[in-house]
Amino acid sequence: MSIAIEFVDLHFRYPGGVEAVRGVSLTVSAGERVAIVGENGAGKTTLVRHLNGILRPTSGTVLVGGASTRDRSIAQLAAQVGYIFQNPDEQLFASTIGADVEFGPRNLGCTPSEAAARAASALATVQLQDQAGLHPHHLSPSERKRVALAGVLAMQTPVVVLDEPTTGQDARGVEIVAGVVDSIAAQGRTVVAITHDMDFCAEHFDRVVVMADGLVQADGDTRAVFDQVGTLERAAVEPPQLLRLAAHLGWHARPLTPAEFVDASTREPRDLGTRVD
Ligand SMILES: Nc1ncnc2c1ncn2[C@@H]1O[C@H](COP(=O)(O)OP(=O)(O)O)[C@@H](O)[C@H]1O
Ligand SMILES: [Mg+2]
Repeated sequence: MSIAIEFVDLHFRYPGGVEAVRGVSLTVSAGERVAIVGENGAGKTTLVRHLNGILRPTSGTVLVGGASTRDRSIAQLAAQVGYIFQNPDEQLFASTIGADVEFGPRNLGCTPSEAAARAASALATVQLQDQAGLHPHHLSPSERKRVALAGVLAMQTPVVVLDEPTTGQDARGVEIVAGVVDSIAAQGRTVVAITHDMDFCAEHFDRVVVMADGLVQADGDTRAVFDQVGTLERAAVEPPQLLRLAAHLGWHARPLTPAEFVDASTREPRDLGTRVD
């Protein structure tokens, strides 16, 4: 199952505080994968927290599968939107990792054996199958983040929201998270990820939304957005390494992935020593 999400002129002000989202309109089609980037405080987390009903609009509308979140409970939205918090310790609460991952599907009405099977499969996907009996505190923060990811996978929701999924992950952890994103997207589910990791963004997302100051500053095809150098600079977002390197070498190619970089390297000038830019 695949569903779209839409923000229509969303504004959100924290009680007694800042207006963190100041008029965002954004449509994410069913099955699309979108990365949201921008510096700390840009309003990214506040925006996506509207998708599972943790936050309700100050004004404007948020639609999930065509229906306003205003009319639905957090429990109803949980069946549609899986949300992985930036800090997994806000999310994990059961006394074992296996029980934690089973909780979501149980809550959605799965039988105990179906929930257990889904949990086992999700834990295997994030390579924590051998830790199912442990208390979450016996894992590292980066492993706890992968437990939270497994919890959302086990719910098999049509929309998955990931808040900084690669933060704190080592290279293997990033690879696991990337594999999960690719497989969720391959199943036609809608993926929205907030990330500070531009290489992860360039390699696994088709569309990038740049936020700053509670507003969308750029939105479009990944390569096109990373070409908007001035906008990125104002939003304090640095383009992916490979793009910066290609620009540095004076290449015309704009590679986003290692494969594209290698491919471009066969066509671009190789005599680097004589270039004076
Ligand atoms: N619970 C909160 N109460 C009050 N202000 C908050 C809260 N959470 C975030 N903010 C403020 O809202 C703004 C946007 O924050 P946030 O959505 O977390 O941005 P980002 O995820 O892009 O770093 C910031 O100015 C932040 O300080
Ligand atoms: Mg955030």
